[in-house]
Amino acid sequence: MSKDLICLSGCSMAFDDVVVLDNVNLNIKDKEFLTLLGPSGCGKTTTLRIIGGFQTPTSGDIMFDGVRINDVPPHKRTINTVFQKYALFPHLNVYENIAFGLRIPKPGPDGKKVSLPEEEIDRRVMEMLEVVNLKGFEKRRVSQLSGGQQQRVAIARALVNRPKVLLLDEPLGALDLKLRKDMQNELKRIQQAMEITFVYVTHDQEEALAMSDTVVVMDGGRIQQIGTPEDIYNEPQNAFVADFIGESNIIDGIMRSDGVVEIFNRRFACLDKGFDKDEAVDVVIRPEDVDIVPEDQGQLKGTVTNVTFKGMQYDIIVDFYGFKWLIQTTDLSPVGSRIGIKIDPDGIHVMKKSEYSGMFGDYSSYSEEYEEIGDVSIEPDEEESGDEE
Ligand SMILES: Nc1ncnc2c1ncn2[C@@H]1O[C@H](COP(=O)(O)OP(=O)(O)O)[C@@H](O)[C@H]1O
Ligand SMILES: [Mg+2]
Repeated sequence: MSKDLICLSGCSMAFDDVVVLDNVNLNIKDKEFLTLLGPSGCGKTTTLRIIGGFQTPTSGDIMFDGVRINDVPPHKRTINTVFQKYALFPHLNVYENIAFGLRIPKPGPDGKKVSLPEEEIDRRVMEMLEVVNLKGFEKRRVSQLSGGQQQRVAIARALVNRPKVLLLDEPLGALDLKLRKDMQNELKRIQQAMEITFVYVTHDQEEALAMSDTVVVMDGGRIQQIGTPEDIYNEPQNAFVADFIGESNIIDGIMRSDGVVEIFNRRFACLDKGFDKDEAVDVVIRPEDVDIVPEDQGQLKGTVTNVTFKGMQYDIIVDFYGFKWLIQTTDLSPVGSRIGIKIDPDGIHVMKKSEYSGMFGDYSSYSEEYEEIGDVSIEPDEEESGDEE
């Protein structure tokens, strides 16, 4: 992973004056696995389509290897796309689906169209079958394949032309969870074996963290943060990123000085610095970074309002002065018990206030859902009987 291969600078996109991408600046390195992550409608597919050449940005430039390619059509870019709907040819077998692109005559050095020799086609198709683990399936009709196998054929077909970049738009969306996990590992392996750049789109944060070298978090047509999975998780830049990636308690705080933040009128040591004195901030505390201690030893004291057994740990909801936190713990603290908590300086992450402040990070509603489920006075049949036929 070295030089920048693709650069979007100041790219915006509007449809009928509605801005759906707003000043996107993004550098994609050669051979990296980069993921565009964000909720539905945030502009991921539009960004991918600009890279693939299916859409021209309303303003801004897209560069490939130092050359401006705004007006270069898709088939003249060394970029291929795998769509969520695989669009395989149902009447062709696996081999011919993969060979399809290679059989189309291409202009040679003298401009005349030439076809690849059959041995070359065969060698390349067999190589791809090996890469996607489908050796022995050459003669199968694609309709006889499982979803995961069809996905592999689609990937082989996109890679057989040896693009420098593969674009993948939610390619695992149609697969069940177990298969998704297998294909995540498989895609990562293929990307490394082929040594090419993958630009991957998903709304699934776990998938993004598991596969990517770089994650680009988007919302509302804007990039919210670019970083490694660890950066994005440990150092979210605003409340949106903190909430979208993993679970987060997000609390109002005041930065009293470098390394000291005040929450609920109590001062906590933290590692953050560079804020103004007494600047209002958002403070992120991950559920797994909170230690439960006896009430009299706690930095904060609260009451457990809900407990959910999750196998590896308990998810407990704790009420601190009317604000509900999610805490993950391996020790059971029953509902109603009073507990104290301690947070190490590296378990606290301070963020600048943003347009997202106050929108996320409170677990009151989470807790109410469980209270309703646990409330014996609600008759289970009552809701259903309300449905009209
Ligand atoms: N061709 C189009 N015409 C009008 N609006 C579009 C078009 N393509 C996308 N949009 C709008 O742009 C926004 C971003 O869409 P998209 O990039 O597909 O989001 P995502 O892939 O993150 O779900 C959405 O609000 C969508 O409705
Ligand atoms: Mg999309």
